[in-house]
Amino acid sequence: MDSIKEYLENNKERFIAELRELLKIPSISADSSYKSDMLKTAEVVKDRLLDAGCDLAEVCSTPGHPVVYAEKIIDKNLPTVLVYGHYDVQPPDPLDLWDSPPFEPVIKETRIHPEGAIFARGACDDKGQMYMHVKALEYMTKNDELPCNVKFMIEGEEEVGSEHLEWFIKEYKDRLKNDVILISDTGMIAKDVPSITTGLRGLSYVEVEVTGANRDLHSGLYGGAVANPLNVLSKMIASLTDENNHITIPGFYDKVENLSDEERKKMAEAPFDLEEYKEKLDIDDVYGEKAYSTLERGSIRPTLDVNGMWGGYIGEGAKTVLPSKAYAKISMRLVPDQDWKEITELFKKHFESLAPKGVRVEVKPHHGGYPYVTPIDTIGYQAASKAYEETFGKTPIPQRSGGSIPIVSLFEKELESKIILMGFGLDTDAIHSPNENFGVWNYLKGIETIPWFYKYFTEMSTK
Ligand code: BES
Ligand code: MN
Ligand code: MN
Repeated sequence: MDSIKEYLENNKERFIAELRELLKIPSISADSSYKSDMLKTAEVVKDRLLDAGCDLAEVCSTPGHPVVYAEKIIDKNLPTVLVYGHYDVQPPDPLDLWDSPPFEPVIKETRIHPEGAIFARGACDDKGQMYMHVKALEYMTKNDELPCNVKFMIEGEEEVGSEHLEWFIKEYKDRLKNDVILISDTGMIAKDVPSITTGLRGLSYVEVEVTGANRDLHSGLYGGAVANPLNVLSKMIASLTDENNHITIPGFYDKVENLSDEERKKMAEAPFDLEEYKEKLDIDDVYGEKAYSTLERGSIRPTLDVNGMWGGYIGEGAKTVLPSKAYAKISMRLVPDQDWKEITELFKKHFESLAPKGVRVEVKPHHGGYPYVTPIDTIGYQAASKAYEETFGKTPIPQRSGGSIPIVSLFEKELESKIILMGFGLDTDAIHSPNENFGVWNYLKGIETIPWFYKYFTEMSTK
């Protein structure tokens, strides 16, 4: 396996060039005008999987965007690793905040990445991280180092809630059979502090609409006498959290798992510099639920956030108007053992009950997902840990993340496998933001580390 370093040295320019080609296709799943680019991206991923040594690769249609499925089965008696990733990306807006166009990848040096970072939408989330697995497979097949079977499932709807993936998993259940699911779609603490993600938050995403009068009104003639939906909506939203930033929806915390003091103490040992955190974000203080640390607020505690709020006049200058409607998009990040369907119902009931007379309120659920936590005493985790030790020279730290990959808990339920989240991103990668980027070092380090996982996982499971 030591030849991986040499293989990387000889092929890294091509590995980067191939990723750049993939990043040029605007695979924006949220926007239906990019439907053909979605298909094109799926086709490219399929072709690259065949190039990397898969015996079979297919673009499978679903009621939504297609899923790429591929496999290389070397011996039915050996274990099977299923790699999951997503080829869809978030919309790049706001475009004017990008230093270079989001779908014209460029490599630039940064303070954190003196070796250069690839700037493009999807560079880290998740094309770059997904493609590390394709190149790791190439290395293993070309050098006779593939120790087990491998399957790939690369979807195109992760960024919009993986709506049709449940259907796909059920439909393809037999083909997807595996011994462990390997995913790189998360981050690590720092370049010199490797970590393995052991938890993800769940999600309930809703949109609310408040309607007042049947038309926009003159705010002088009607203001003060008729409900203003924007004023009302602001008050309703403000009341969803109390002075301690605790969420006020009745029953919201009923199923929240409480960590033991010991677990919290262990979490507090993870390297984290609050001053640096504030400085990077240009804020003079952090903000959040009373009695919890910043790390806890961002991982083991549930949250409620307005993602967008609109209505009335937002054009240039001033217009005196009392809007007829006001809207907001609200997300709740959930932790074990909250059930997103129950939380969505609790939210709906509570929010509707908050509406004063004079307005009508409608709550429309968007999508959701269950939270996930995994123990570290599994073969998969131990194999991943040893893989990092090989390439980083350090034992990785288990870490629960605040983000969500809603399909992960479904995998566990439907496919009955353990999921290993080996992320190589950094929190400075600006995923979902303008100027998303992925360090060339991180990309190559991922490709270097993955084959070790295969080796140890196979050795440990066939013992
Ligand atoms: N890869 C991210 C999730 C992530 C990033 C987890 C970093 C942990 C660390 C994923 O693509 C994502 O953005 N998920 C969405 C959820 C989805 C339903 C839109 C999220 O977390 O907002
Ligand atoms: Mn992702
Ligand atoms: Mn994402």
